[in-house]
Amino acid sequence: MRVWVPIDAAARALGADDVADAIRREAAARGVEITLTRNGSRGMIWLEPLVEVEIDGVRMGFGPMTPEDVPALFDPGHPRALGPVDELPWMKAQSRLTFARVGVIDPLSLDDYQAHGGLAGLRAAIAAPEVIVQAVTDSGLRGRGGAGFPTGIKWATVARAAAERKYIVCNADEGDSGTFADRMLMEGDPFTLIEGMAIAGLAVGAVQGYVYIRSEYPDAIRAMESAIRIARGSGVLGTGILGSAHDFDMEVRVGAGAYVCGEETSLLNSLEGRRGTVRAKPPIPALEGFLGRPTVVNNVLSLATVPWIMANGAEAYAAYGLGRSRGTMPLQIAGNVRHGGLYEIAFGLTLGEIVEHIAGGTASGRPVKAVQVGGPLGAYFPPGLFDTPFGYEEFAGKDGLVGHAGIVVFDDTADMRALARFAMEFCAVESCGKCTPCRIGSVRGVETIDRIAAGDLDAIPILTDLCNTMKWGSLCALGGFAPYPVMSALTHWPEDFTGPAHRKEAAE
Ligand code: NAI
Ligand code: SF4
Repeated sequence: MRVWVPIDAAARALGADDVADAIRREAAARGVEITLTRNGSRGMIWLEPLVEVEIDGVRMGFGPMTPEDVPALFDPGHPRALGPVDELPWMKAQSRLTFARVGVIDPLSLDDYQAHGGLAGLRAAIAAPEVIVQAVTDSGLRGRGGAGFPTGIKWATVARAAAERKYIVCNADEGDSGTFADRMLMEGDPFTLIEGMAIAGLAVGAVQGYVYIRSEYPDAIRAMESAIRIARGSGVLGTGILGSAHDFDMEVRVGAGAYVCGEETSLLNSLEGRRGTVRAKPPIPALEGFLGRPTVVNNVLSLATVPWIMANGAEAYAAYGLGRSRGTMPLQIAGNVRHGGLYEIAFGLTLGEIVEHIAGGTASGRPVKAVQVGGPLGAYFPPGLFDTPFGYEEFAGKDGLVGHAGIVVFDDTADMRALARFAMEFCAVESCGKCTPCRIGSVRGVETIDRIAAGDLDAIPILTDLCNTMKWGSLCALGGFAPYPVMSALTHWPEDFTGPAHRKEAAE
């Protein structure tokens, strides 16, 4: 009997370890021989822990499971039976390219990885390293960390730079609220990231890479460290990778909890052992990055998508998507929703389709009031903008950002003034302090919103002015984007700042 129980941190937080133990105990008590694999999560968090059992060659789902539900797993007609996992509507409608193996394979089995297409991209890259940059460019892949800069152009810049040493740095400091795709990928399919980094090394002439993972992700850190050890022991990393004349090796580095270390130059400072403050650009890291050498800095998802592109062709990847947003995006749906989790789909669905159909509306059953897309610095979208298609330019056209594709839903009980205040407060706490608009502006922003809350409506234009100063005058995206949630809240829900409820609150 083959059984899968996720080892993903979200599933573990919901009791997956206890369920796995209960399955082993029950099987032993019944004398049933089982092969229990700890897989990644399929991304349906509301069904976790989601146990899968192979029945007549098909993986059948059961969830959400508790240890008490386990004995009945061994008998027919389980009350938590969901049917074939691949046939569940959430799974069936997706286009899983980057996440194709997550939840399917044993994350630390190189054999399982290869049996599901792993290393095909690296083999193709080794066979023709000179075409990698062009293939990545032609695929239309853009930086999945949030900025959406074309990955092929970044790699071409590093490839062209003349230097004795170059580096590949993976940004796994996934700090945006409501995002978890990097974590899920590193825990569920770490070899894909290793393969992507090795391909990047080949493309630009780098032999050393680093994955900078936030300290809040201990499971991902363990998974990546184990996978790197296994890859090194199997000739996927090290001298002469996969028997070729190319070398590539990599290490994990752990952050120390600063949100700003997700900004690439802060991350590089931290990686070099310095304080995590932002460096002025130019020079861009592609020319002067880690230790002053040309460096590819890419998000986990960008690098982990490259093996698929190399294995299946740039054209196949570019066939997905909308406008200049090519390929797929792993959406991370969270907040007040019925169905939260990871959903990989081509760019182009409207925000309304994502919130109403995929997420199933609010968990509370109340009307949706706002949706924040792109992390704590993303704009709040009202239902009136639900026809906006999911794409970089389309979101920018509505004063929003796709960012790392975190989608957080709020119902009509949300207080938009309080959420705007939170954005400024977050910026004040996380500011690296290097530039004035962010360091001072965020503190003044909190104070100004408090003045508005106290009934001083003259402070509203001051807040707008302050937001403009921060937007245009800040050195990096932390100070530069903090005005987005604030201004969107003020624009779409002015009554939350000036309405009778707040005047009454102020009078009390
Ligand atoms: P950016 O637009 O300054 O740069 C984007 C990337 O392109 C950088 O790697 C930059 O070095 C590179 N680049 C720019 N010009 C280049 C050239 N000519 N040749 C080669 N490379 C070039 O944006 P930034 O500051 O790196 O990122 C801002 C974004 O980060 C925001 O849009 C936000 O969505 C996102 N973000 C993501 C977070 C997460 O947890 N994933 C957290 C906070 C922000
Ligand atoms: Fe530092 Fe904020 Fe300026 Fe960025 S915007 S450099 S985080 S002070």
